[in-house]
Amino acid sequence: MTKQPAIELKNITKRFGAKVIANNNVSLTAYHGEVLSILGENGSGKTTLMNMISGIYFPDEGQIFVNGKEAVIASPKDAFGFKIGMIHQHFKLVDVFSAAENIVLGIDGGKYNLKKSTEEIKKISEQYGFDLDPEKKIYSMSVSEKQTVEIIKVLYRGADILILDEPTAVLTPQETAKLFDVLRKMRDDGKCIIIITHKLHEVLSLSDRVSVLRKGEYVGTVNTAETSESELTEMMVGKKIDLNIERSDPKDPQDRLVVKDLDCINRDGVAVLDSISFTARSGEILGIAGIAGSGQRELLEAIAGLQHISQGDILYNDPKSGKTENLRDKTPVQIRDLGVRLSFVPEDRLGMGLVANMDIVDNMMLRSYSKGRSAFLERKAPKDLAMKIIKDLEVVTPGASTPVRRLSGGNVQKVLVGREIAASPTVLMVAYPVRGLDINSSYMIYNLLNEQKEKGVAIIFVGEDLDVLLELCDRIMVIGSGKITGIEDARTVTKEQIGLLMTKTGEEE
Ligand SMILES: Nc1ncnc2c1ncn2[C@@H]1O[C@H](COP(=O)(O)OP(=O)(O)O)[C@@H](O)[C@H]1O
Ligand SMILES: [Mg+2]
Repeated sequence: MTKQPAIELKNITKRFGAKVIANNNVSLTAYHGEVLSILGENGSGKTTLMNMISGIYFPDEGQIFVNGKEAVIASPKDAFGFKIGMIHQHFKLVDVFSAAENIVLGIDGGKYNLKKSTEEIKKISEQYGFDLDPEKKIYSMSVSEKQTVEIIKVLYRGADILILDEPTAVLTPQETAKLFDVLRKMRDDGKCIIIITHKLHEVLSLSDRVSVLRKGEYVGTVNTAETSESELTEMMVGKKIDLNIERSDPKDPQDRLVVKDLDCINRDGVAVLDSISFTARSGEILGIAGIAGSGQRELLEAIAGLQHISQGDILYNDPKSGKTENLRDKTPVQIRDLGVRLSFVPEDRLGMGLVANMDIVDNMMLRSYSKGRSAFLERKAPKDLAMKIIKDLEVVTPGASTPVRRLSGGNVQKVLVGREIAASPTVLMVAYPVRGLDINSSYMIYNLLNEQKEKGVAIIFVGEDLDVLLELCDRIMVIGSGKITGIEDARTVTKEQIGLLMTKTGEEE
């Protein structure tokens, strides 16, 4: 049987203001009974394009056909009329309501029979293999359960064209595998599944076809069975990119930072770090994996002197003097005055890392002011450094005297990473350093980290892409609910093993 087109986009253009063309003359087709991936780098226009199918935005030019007929989709309600449902990156659920209440919310004119609806929800769950308790309240749900609610909500309304915007960003490998099984069942059931992603291995494992966008333009569509990671990357980026991350063996690793029994309690009295003990060694990249918000931020902040800890020690072995300093309860300035060369790229780049209103040069100076008063007045060295970072890391900015707040997120990140590395650290802590960066820049950052490793720096890398952690790091430490659930050899551990450790709380056993 030939597949019927579900969605046809013809010459779609969408602008934001005078300058941004988010989609330029894009045409593509998605069929019933297939999974179509929309692949593209950050900012390539994927979300905008799909938002026009789901009625969030209206195209400036072009036409949308649904099941062969031209359709005007002016609101999400219109989209539902065409049996189109979108699962957005940010969920829109009411915390104090149950799954079932959220699913029926806003339909049937506010009148509903919760018992009947719950039966219907159970039926949908069984049909596709979801695991959901309809009575469970949203606030006690994991991210993956919340996502399930969003998907069932769309199915409950009768959608047979489903669009998912980067659904795996928040999932563990096991949860991802489960979601993909569900999506395959829906496809086999004749539904049209469109999934936005920038992860190549997901594209290859799940989709039937892939449509690629680059800078708002449609590049082409290929059959998944006939393509490869390198072809897809070239389509996304516009040029060939070497996707291999080098990994050398650590040379003469020394215990640089020894963290012992660290406890940290937040304002609500909840233990955010619980008996954390590990060692970061020189010439080694120690990866930290975990579901977002498992204590990664607090751990790095505690080491940097930005987070109060209730118990434990942070011992720094100075490679020059051979002395051991305890960094516990020291401020960042005290840590620096001890001669500890600690660099930190925090998750929160502006605010904690850089000062938004200052220009790039002044932000360089922020880092070096402790070197004495004269350094404060000396702008030449920071200016040279700023220029060097702009050039080496290809920072897009009108100049070195542009306020940092005017740069895009990716460029802010490059400035911060560049500055922290230029400080010749002995310990370098980076949190999600490639988040939001394009592929080319991401590989630039991996290379920089590898260079630092070669120089004998002890690197702590908090990451979210397990494939990258597995390729780049020497060891991977997994945190779950503020506890270490495992420290593994990155050369031998599997993604599935890391995934299991991520969801372990450290209490069972
Ligand atoms: N509401 C908006 N206002 C202005 N610019 C926007 C808006 N939404 C998206 N953009 C811009 O449109 C482009 C495409 O964005 P988006 O569709 O979110 O890309 P993707 O989902 O591929 O990362 C980007 O340059 C982005 O900054
Ligand atoms: Mg997007």
